[in-house]
Amino acid sequence: MPRTEILLIRDVETGRSAIDAAAAVIRRGGLVAFPTETVYGLGANALDAGAAVRIFEAKQRALNDPLIVHINDATHATQSLIDWPALTQRQRELYEILARRFWPGPLTLVLPKQASVPAVVSAGLDSVAVRVPDHPIARALIAASAVPIAAPSANLFGHVSPTSAQHVLADLAGRIDMVLDGGPTRIGVESTVLSLRHDPPVVLRPGGVTRDMLAQAGVATTTLTERQADNAAQLAPGMLSSHYAPRAALEIVADTAALIARQVTLTQEGARVGVLLSGAEAESCSRLHPQFVLGVTHAQIARNLYAGLRALDDAAVDVILIARIDGDGLGDAIRDRLERAAHKRA
Ligand code: TXA
Ligand code: MG
Repeated sequence: MPRTEILLIRDVETGRSAIDAAAAVIRRGGLVAFPTETVYGLGANALDAGAAVRIFEAKQRALNDPLIVHINDATHATQSLIDWPALTQRQRELYEILARRFWPGPLTLVLPKQASVPAVVSAGLDSVAVRVPDHPIARALIAASAVPIAAPSANLFGHVSPTSAQHVLADLAGRIDMVLDGGPTRIGVESTVLSLRHDPPVVLRPGGVTRDMLAQAGVATTTLTERQADNAAQLAPGMLSSHYAPRAALEIVADTAALIARQVTLTQEGARVGVLLSGAEAESCSRLHPQFVLGVTHAQIARNLYAGLRALDDAAVDVILIARIDGDGLGDAIRDRLERAAHKRA
């Protein structure tokens, strides 16, 4: 693969020629990383099996981990991706309510797929995951390509998802054709994945659209844990417990006092320890280094979380400490990612 081309885009108006160049790469079966409101995606033509295979090769991703297909309009999915005639009346209603309320936005819907979606995209499953991203560059790229774009997060498999073009390049430079640099992403954690194949629908991955928000739209949901699904791996392929992982070992401790105590112990044992700080901790922990301040609100913590993990990895620490993040809403998504990241060496 030739050098990865990096195109900086300030806005879609002045970035028109960059977006057209990227769309040309997509149309000829190449790979383009692009910003969405959640994280950067690694895109390819979702209807081209050969292009989709390149995504798995570039990321070194396991072939049993299905991709999310990005579209610009809910009706595109019903026409060319979702097996609409096979849906029940209830599934159609849910799709329409959720698409109207949350798209564009960080909600991915899983439904039975049409035969035109290559098996590699859905990892051999008979379902497809679709979403309409809420980012002007993503939407302009999909429109200019005039095809649905399959895009997982643009990181090496199992590593921390990228929230900037620099993160993408750190993992994938030389492995992909192009990166559209649209600056840091707004939400910072991946979309909520909701399976409409079950009634009530099942949240397979918590994300930017919370269960409360879904309930407020009149859609009660359940989770794999609540269902006590013993076939969780089948329902939610790709939800490896070790995922989103930094190189350093990540430890989640109970609170600020435990964080300080653990920092001292580990340092005495000769480990190099980095701390991820949130809320009021920043002040009481100002002497702990290296440190990365995530912010106070859940929204800030989510937005900065992956950058923090990568920054402390770059500082070559052995262990990263963080105090447990409480609260529901986005807190669920933050805890989910932290627990998966911590699982690696737990
Ligand atoms: O926010 C996001 O969703 C980002 C941006 C780029 O859109 N994408 C993303 O993709 O996080 P990825 O590949 O990292 O996560 C896709 C996950 C899979 O690992 C799997 O768990 C779930 O979505 N998924 C995809 N297709 C599925 C299907 N047919 N059935 C069940 N789960 C599916
Ligand atoms: Mg991913």
